[in-house]
Amino acid sequence: MKHLLSIEELTTTQLTSLLDLTDHMVEISGRPVPKVPALRGRTVASVFFEESTRTRLSFETAAKRLSAETMTFNVGTSSVNKGESLRDTIETLAAMGVDAFVVRHKSSGVPRMITEWTDASVINAGDGWHQHPTQALLDCHTITRSFGCGNDLSGRTVAIVGDVKHSRVARSNIRAFTMLGAEVVLVAPRTLLPPEFIDWPVRTADALDDVVGDIDVLYLLRMQRERMDAALVPSLGEYSARFGLTSQRARQLKHDALVLHPGPMNRGVEILVDPADLPGSRILEQVRTGVSARMSVLYTVLSGGSVPPTGGAE
Ligand code: NCD
Repeated sequence: MKHLLSIEELTTTQLTSLLDLTDHMVEISGRPVPKVPALRGRTVASVFFEESTRTRLSFETAAKRLSAETMTFNVGTSSVNKGESLRDTIETLAAMGVDAFVVRHKSSGVPRMITEWTDASVINAGDGWHQHPTQALLDCHTITRSFGCGNDLSGRTVAIVGDVKHSRVARSNIRAFTMLGAEVVLVAPRTLLPPEFIDWPVRTADALDDVVGDIDVLYLLRMQRERMDAALVPSLGEYSARFGLTSQRARQLKHDALVLHPGPMNRGVEILVDPADLPGSRILEQVRTGVSARMSVLYTVLSGGSVPPTGGAE
């Protein structure tokens, strides 16, 4: 596997191998010195044309735990603001010696375009509404390991709630959860479902109350106000009334149901309780797992399939 651009292009075996390798990276991350020499001499460049907190920092932390060099491209202070093209920017960085580009861009398809301009590996860290494969990987790991069910989600129902239309996280997760055998139900106003959802292997519900007592995982999406060009919900207050996680709805969850959110959260919109008060919340676990899941991806694309690292860094 040279690139990771989309969950769609993974086989189930590739997905479960990445999840199993993530277990190994969790073990490394838990050591007093969480570092192995596996990618020494390799350079990972993070090229983010859109804001990010956890994705960028966790990729950089992941690269460092594997002893790779890191290069950070900050669009705000770069020559992109002098009109340098995307292609020139990538070729310039590549000329300095980059083995993997970690790319986030507001346009769908940019990570794939970049594979045509460089010999380096390319990892999609979120492109437009299209895909966010490492988020799906860390979410699958968080859920399966919380349930202790191996890599098998058959018999479990995951509700993905909110702004599916603008969500690359939803597109990646629907695919990944169903590959592991879960049933997915989308809970959203019709205006926040994309037209193509009728071809997806999912059910839909019109209100969170219709499903909240029956599901195993409640996956809340962020209301993506920056990606909406029209008023697709009457008001955020009405949205919260039908789709927000209130304390009353939290009480109706099954006792072992999990609650996830990719972050950043809009408190008071999609989540009206403090996640710290929810026994099933895995929101911080998602962030922790994010580093190990990205170690697994970096190692897989850069090691050419050799055995996983074990020894500590010298
Ligand atoms: C997501 C993203 O940027 O796609 N956040 C993330 O990576 N943790 C989800 C979002 O922005 O709502």
